[in-house]
Amino acid sequence: MRQLSRPARRGFLIAHLVVSVGWLGLTLCLLALAVTGATTGSPAAAEAAYRSMKVFGDWLLPPLALLTLVTGLVCSLGTPWGLARHRWVYAKFWLTLAAATASVLALRPTIDGAASAAAGGREVPEPVDLIVPPSVALALYVFLTAISVLKPWGLTRRGRRERERARASRTAKSTRGAGRASVRLGGWRPRRPTSARSPCAASAPKTSRPASTSRTTAAGAARSTSGGCC
Ligand code: HEM
Repeated sequence: MRQLSRPARRGFLIAHLVVSVGWLGLTLCLLALAVTGATTGSPAAAEAAYRSMKVFGDWLLPPLALLTLVTGLVCSLGTPWGLARHRWVYAKFWLTLAAATASVLALRPTIDGAASAAAGGREVPEPVDLIVPPSVALALYVFLTAISVLKPWGLTRRGRRERERARASRTAKSTRGAGRASVRLGGWRPRRPTSARSPCAASAPKTSRPASTSRTTAAGAARSTSGGCC
């Protein structure tokens, strides 16, 4: 996939934050309603809680889960983060895929069953089945939010291979360039201008910058070896 322009990347990141944190909030609402349905003494309140769960499950759960996946994929494939280059991104992808599948294929039918039992004046057989999944999902989304911010665990094996390849090709290019310049200038080599070195290289946190595989300029090389630049 082509790398996104800066404004497009920001736009997709904002969209990704809105939908993924929206999914987390929705899960919190489902949990609150499931606990209300299970613990209230009033059949009318229980029916209202399960009916509300059905509305959320039908109208909000599938689009939010899907949009989280899609925007996450764009933020990964359209940026130097890549999908299988950093462990935190790869883990997020598989965990989100599992959570989205379980929400749509397992949680929604359970909610439907509870809503129709409550609407028909019957007891919901296992109210706990509506409490456990949102609790597990909530813990998972909090974990996913934390790893998104902390970006731990470094590169995957594939990410390391790509970085080595990029380094090797950069070294080959700069050696060829230096050789040609040296021949032209009779052995004298100009110093690299200070502006080509990253001004914020020393302070840039390494873990929160994506590994780049396509930097070819001197400034780009300085940025990528030092962990990124503002
Ligand atoms: C419930 C699921 C998810 C949650 C709660 C979540 C949350 C977040 C948050 C809070 C950030 C912002 C981090 C920051 O900028 O400091 C973020 C960024 C990101 N997420 Fe997710 N995410 C989820 C799913 C996914 C998936 C499925 C993918 C990949 C397929 C993904 C890939 C990314 C990438 C690559 C970024 C960094 C984008 C950039 O800086 O340009 N996320 N996510």
